[in-house]
Amino acid sequence: MNRSEQHLVLVGMMGVGKSTIGRALADRLDREMIDSDSIIEARTGRTVREIFADDGEPAFRALESEVLLEALSAPHPLVIAAAGGVVLSATNRAALRRPNARVVWLCADPATLLERVRHGVHRPLLDDDPAGTLQRMFVEREGLYREVADTIVLVDHRSVGEVVEAVLR
Ligand code: S3P
Repeated sequence: MNRSEQHLVLVGMMGVGKSTIGRALADRLDREMIDSDSIIEARTGRTVREIFADDGEPAFRALESEVLLEALSAPHPLVIAAAGGVVLSATNRAALRRPNARVVWLCADPATLLERVRHGVHRPLLDDDPAGTLQRMFVEREGLYREVADTIVLVDHRSVGEVVEAVLR
């Protein structure tokens, strides 16, 4: 499938910059950008944090999967900033590996991630021991991101513009 017809999907850990890079890419490619956490919040009228607290993580993961699969079935090519946890589901991983999606793993060192997650409020999993949690998640998920990725782009010490150029290349 031609790249201009494929969805461009950004995956990677919390704090790596998927939403920021996704918006810049969508501008450059003149495409609509879908941010899975924002869609979930708009659709449910609740924040990610509230959904985790009231209904638990499995309920959040089900919504996350629904939004991802729906975005991947859109007829026109999108830029999709997928939430960090989408790779935990085998169904999601299989969908990401279909030919209509080009998946870019934005990869950063846990130290870079820690620096960047300080301002976000939608990450209840990081409330306790963010450094240790990020490190552990990185180890748990690294292989899963690698499994779905067509391309890996390293973001450490790179500006938004530099990462966007690297993704487009
Ligand atoms: C999560 C990532 C978050 C959000 C939730 C859980 C994860 O999204 O969906 O806090 O498990 O990696 P971002 O990757 O956009 O921060």
